[in-house]
Amino acid sequence: MLSNVVTKTYVPDCSTASSFSTNTTIYRRRITLPRKTRALSLITNSSSVLHHQHHFSSVSLSKSILVGEEREFGGAMAGGGVFAEIIDVGDSTSVFKYYADGEWKKSSSGKSVAIVNPTTRKTQYKVQACTQEEVNKVMETAKAAQKSWAKTPLWRRAELLHKAAAILKDHKAPIAEALIKEIAKPAKDAVTEVVRSGDLISYCAEEGVRLLGEGAFLVSDSFPGNERTKYCLTSKIPLGVVLAIPPFNYPVNLAVSKIAPALIAGNSLVLKPPTQGAVSCLHMVHCFHLAGFPKGLISCITGKGSEIGDFLTMHPGVNCISFTGGDTGIAISKKAGMIPLQMELGGKDACIVLEDADLDLVASNIVKGGFSYSGQRCTAVKVVLVMESVADALVEKVKAKVAKLSVGPPEDDSDITPVVSESSANFIEGLVLDAKQKGATFCQEYKRDGNLIWPLLLDNVRPDMRIAWEEPFGPVLPVIRIGSVEEGIHHCNASNFGLQGCVFTKDINKAMLISDAMETGTVQINSAPARGPDHFPFQGIKDSGIGSQGITNSINMMTKVKTTVINLPTPSYTMG
Ligand code: G3H
Repeated sequence: MLSNVVTKTYVPDCSTASSFSTNTTIYRRRITLPRKTRALSLITNSSSVLHHQHHFSSVSLSKSILVGEEREFGGAMAGGGVFAEIIDVGDSTSVFKYYADGEWKKSSSGKSVAIVNPTTRKTQYKVQACTQEEVNKVMETAKAAQKSWAKTPLWRRAELLHKAAAILKDHKAPIAEALIKEIAKPAKDAVTEVVRSGDLISYCAEEGVRLLGEGAFLVSDSFPGNERTKYCLTSKIPLGVVLAIPPFNYPVNLAVSKIAPALIAGNSLVLKPPTQGAVSCLHMVHCFHLAGFPKGLISCITGKGSEIGDFLTMHPGVNCISFTGGDTGIAISKKAGMIPLQMELGGKDACIVLEDADLDLVASNIVKGGFSYSGQRCTAVKVVLVMESVADALVEKVKAKVAKLSVGPPEDDSDITPVVSESSANFIEGLVLDAKQKGATFCQEYKRDGNLIWPLLLDNVRPDMRIAWEEPFGPVLPVIRIGSVEEGIHHCNASNFGLQGCVFTKDINKAMLISDAMETGTVQINSAPARGPDHFPFQGIKDSGIGSQGITNSINMMTKVKTTVINLPTPSYTMG
């Protein structure tokens, strides 16, 4: 099926300003980046997508990383090859379709939502602005499809998931391209996200077969006063319709981390992608379509949060919500009905550095943990709490490493790429200016061009500065010097977040005591915070979230326990 690709020219209208575009204010002059003369059309076949040439001069799209894969499947790029059917190519504008009832559809609204490329700050793609009526239809079909999916053998559900995983990995290049264009994810990381997602789906299929293939058997005589007259059989049953809302920073991976457990457990799935990241999500959903999942089981509905957001999350057809994002999740939690919720809402992950720590190891982890994907990870190191006696040495080491970070477009696989939006860049700048005004030490000069913010380490940050508490979601990292470990733990626990944290010391006994004292869902000892490997439990406390993720926990969360009790007329004892 996959070799029989249909190639179609995709020429989206990138010049028409959309009424939904949020990018109307030009904050600063446009970023000037190195020109790459070789346009994509030279490295893909001539019928592949042309829209790349409209934009950013640096469209070489990480040639070294992706060219091999492009050749592998006939030059298909985002919106090309097998993905041609997910776009409505119009005379003046092209809009990605939404997915419902096993088909790619245009919204009856006739409207679209623009997706702004963080690097060029111009419209890169457009997606359908779906209506509430379309949400209703999707919910109806999701409900109907779930009934027969729940009767589909578990091995068959797993088989389809494995197939989707393979198709997804086969198409890593076009999906990575969408990630680069929509969310400015560095090229290598974009490819990694897709591959990691395929692995997650496969692991989930295997875990589901084991976990859901087993139940429990209880007998009544284990409880005081009872004879063995009751046999209780427990199994896990699906919840119904799961609504998945992933964030912009991992639109593919954090979507499949919800989709795969929902499906293996016998649920149907409605996906509402983030606006930036929607096109990557639509490509990923098409891989599930190609795998042959039943009609209506998976839907992907795009549109403005203001029009369909609350309508979706408060829809009576939804039986479970899995959300990753910001404090919108708190609002969703308050409005959602009596349904299971899985929420991951960010963090202010602290890195506590003791006097005996290996400072080279700490510096590497701070730079990786604080600056990868320009700090736009909920698990990024967001505040360093270092013992005063080793602070100078550590700051010097971190500074040296920060100086080596490359800054530029995601196509060049730069370490630091533009942050997702102008409003995000403005917010980060606000935190930086506040720290400056209150006397933080700038280890580098603050530099910004459009949405691109150069990596910045702020030393001597004090608790009265906003950056000490707020999550910049950008490449700015505060260092607070502490006089005691207790001071570090106190700062960590005073945060309204409690996602992850880390501690660096060679003394495992101290590390354990500190880990136990830190009010966070996870503490990493001698490494930066991270969600993965993706089967590990992942959870936050306080404003960081509800429930626990990771493959096993997500499957469990998306099921409920059902029991059947066999009542015997007389007690029956084994071998009795
Ligand atoms: O942004 C939130 C993600 O769950 C973080 O995942 O630790 O793999 O970057 P990561």
